[in-house]
Amino acid sequence: MALNTTNPTNTASWKKLQNHFETLQNASMVTMFKDDATRASQFHIQWNDFLVDYSKNIINQETINLLLELANETQLKDAITKYFEGDTINQTENRAVLHTALRSPASANIKVEGENVIPEIFEVKNKIKNFTNEVVNGVRKGYTEKVFTDVVNIGIGGSDLGPAMVVEALQFYKNQLNIHFVSNVDGDHVHEVIKKLNPETTLFVIVSKTFTTQETLTNSETIRKWFLQSASQEDVAKHFVAVSTNIKKVTEFGINENNVFPMWDWVGGRFSLWSAVGLSISLAVGFDNFDKLLKGANQMDDHFKNESFDKNIPVVLALLSIWYNNFFGAESEALIPYTQYLQKLAPYLQQGIMESNGKSVGRDGKPVNYQTGTIIWGEPGTNSQHAFFQLIHQGTKLIPTDFIGFVKPLYGDKDHHDKLMSNFFAQTEALLNGKTAAQVQAEFDKQGVSPEKAAYLLPFKVFTGNKPTNTLLIQQLTPENLGSLVALYEHKIFVQGIIWNIFSYDQWGVELGKQLATSILNEIEAEKINNHDSSTTFLLSHFLKNK
Ligand code: F6P
Repeated sequence: MALNTTNPTNTASWKKLQNHFETLQNASMVTMFKDDATRASQFHIQWNDFLVDYSKNIINQETINLLLELANETQLKDAITKYFEGDTINQTENRAVLHTALRSPASANIKVEGENVIPEIFEVKNKIKNFTNEVVNGVRKGYTEKVFTDVVNIGIGGSDLGPAMVVEALQFYKNQLNIHFVSNVDGDHVHEVIKKLNPETTLFVIVSKTFTTQETLTNSETIRKWFLQSASQEDVAKHFVAVSTNIKKVTEFGINENNVFPMWDWVGGRFSLWSAVGLSISLAVGFDNFDKLLKGANQMDDHFKNESFDKNIPVVLALLSIWYNNFFGAESEALIPYTQYLQKLAPYLQQGIMESNGKSVGRDGKPVNYQTGTIIWGEPGTNSQHAFFQLIHQGTKLIPTDFIGFVKPLYGDKDHHDKLMSNFFAQTEALLNGKTAAQVQAEFDKQGVSPEKAAYLLPFKVFTGNKPTNTLLIQQLTPENLGSLVALYEHKIFVQGIIWNIFSYDQWGVELGKQLATSILNEIEAEKINNHDSSTTFLLSHFLKNK
């Protein structure tokens, strides 16, 4: 059954939210905290290893009630059921959206076109497990009988960002294999990677759902040519494996059918790290840790599916995001993990969030008359504090920010961790409270700053505060907790897409550039420029003249 097509702005709750916004838009969070000592206990959710405090938002109980009403009016519950049950909710591509099935237990029964997909998922998981064990334990060897020391993941977008993010995030759990990622069609990228490698001890994992992506095929060809400088065509089968739905194309490339890890068209690229697309994760940290990642995601799936909306982390975070995006007019959100391990989380979620919800046509086929997808950006703290935090604290834009921190560090260095976490807590407190003119003046008085200098400097040193933040305090960066965290943001994307009445699981917007690049490549190769606007013609002729 199709998803409903309610324009959210036509709901009663949206209108009530608009009126409510008028009364709350200038409210002071500091005052709200002063007036209600129970605010933090009212606006937090504790679940497994997660403590999510959303009290530092410009909200009161009525805001939450109205946002929950909006979720109900847009039939979120029904949509969640359809999502998990494998309905064709990716309607424009006529597909189910079932990355959640990839992390379901063996006992689950999830049907696509009447067929339970769980047995085939477990068959592939078993293949990943055996392959991982053979490579990690040195049973599977290269063409000169040497064990593999390096693995190169060749893919782009969802076939690169997820594995690259998780391999980086779970470095602490890594084994002896060195994992590399080649994604960009920029030849300098692939040449920088291969110059460090020995073909005898390197395994290549080509990841492409379609096996037609220009970047991935070009990089794979370049790598194969480089490999064949020292090995023979038969050796390709020992060193190249593939993850794809396109078995025909993969075998044409020379990859042995036994070394193909299948995936399914009901798994979107940007949600695919849980499938064999995560093979490089399994190779990096071992299958058991990969499985724990999946288990953590599955626990978040259960939470999302079963918990009432007011205690449901993805739902609450999605509703707060809608509150700022659609009522306060916030254009972007920042995501600041206080761990260097999660430095690739924001780039990873940029694809998840912006490719999914960067849409301007509603599910009814009509242009939307309200804002959709948020711009997401971020870097780990404390580095980001010394880079762009100035703008969050004192700039003119409202940037709701998620702070993600961990109670325990992995190496147990108390000194570093206490310093890191004191910054974590200090930032959200500073963003909430700001610094008043009276406080600045008191500091000047204490420092003996002259009245003229104080009068001049004072406006620059005032912080208005009242900047919204969510704090996600997680026990430790384990594979399970990482799985739960990533699944949390996946479901936040889903909730927002449902309420915004858009299709979150297609990505037609990336096609036009691809098409044009193909025809421009022909012109560059033929050194003959066709009809373009004068700017493009001018640039192309400069390029052809000087290349
Ligand atoms: O950028 C568009 C896109 O289709 C992504 O959604 C996908 O993750 C990526 O290209 C790679 O596609 P493939 O896995 O088919 O090579």
